[in-house]
Amino acid sequence: MELKLKYTTPIEWAHQAVKDIDSFLQDHADAERKVANMCLSLIAKYPNRIEIIDELIQISVEELLHFKQVYELIRYRGHQLNGVFQKDPYIKGVMSIVRSGSEELFMDRLIIASIAELRGSERFKLIGEVVDDPKISKFYTNLYVQELEHINSFIKMAKCYFDSEVVDKRTEEILIKEAEVSANLPWRSAIH
Ligand SMILES: [Fe+2]
Ligand SMILES: [Fe+2]
Repeated sequence: MELKLKYTTPIEWAHQAVKDIDSFLQDHADAERKVANMCLSLIAKYPNRIEIIDELIQISVEELLHFKQVYELIRYRGHQLNGVFQKDPYIKGVMSIVRSGSEELFMDRLIIASIAELRGSERFKLIGEVVDDPKISKFYTNLYVQELEHINSFIKMAKCYFDSEVVDKRTEEILIKEAEVSANLPWRSAIH
């Protein structure tokens, strides 16, 4: 099944987001670091799920590299990490659908991780299209392609442990929720 978002971010979102590109970069650095962390915490929580550990390590490494690259852009802009960790209303909104049983929770977390990669990729592409600074534009245009490779990774992991049709059906439900959350969030200079 090809993962497809059910809400398309309008280009106006990107025009608004890049108005304060420095805040956007701060939020983005934080997001990359959090994805790397999430992969590591999945390994810590599920050490016996050996089928997915290598890939979780690999994605964590890649996300940490993205964090390094965004940090470099922040310094290139003459700033430093501001230590402000804004709550991510998107993750909070989408996670509200997560089920509490341990197996269901595991499945839902992986599906949400894939969908969040897809949303991130969609938005990085838009940022690359509208941001003035050619160095930042090039970075986002490259990043969007790299994040595309992560989209199916987490759902593929879920399918190591759960029936493919069950995962697809649940993905469909979460995509509906994700679209509703994305469509209703106020726009900020942030990825969500
Ligand atoms: Fe990333
Ligand atoms: Fe990613």
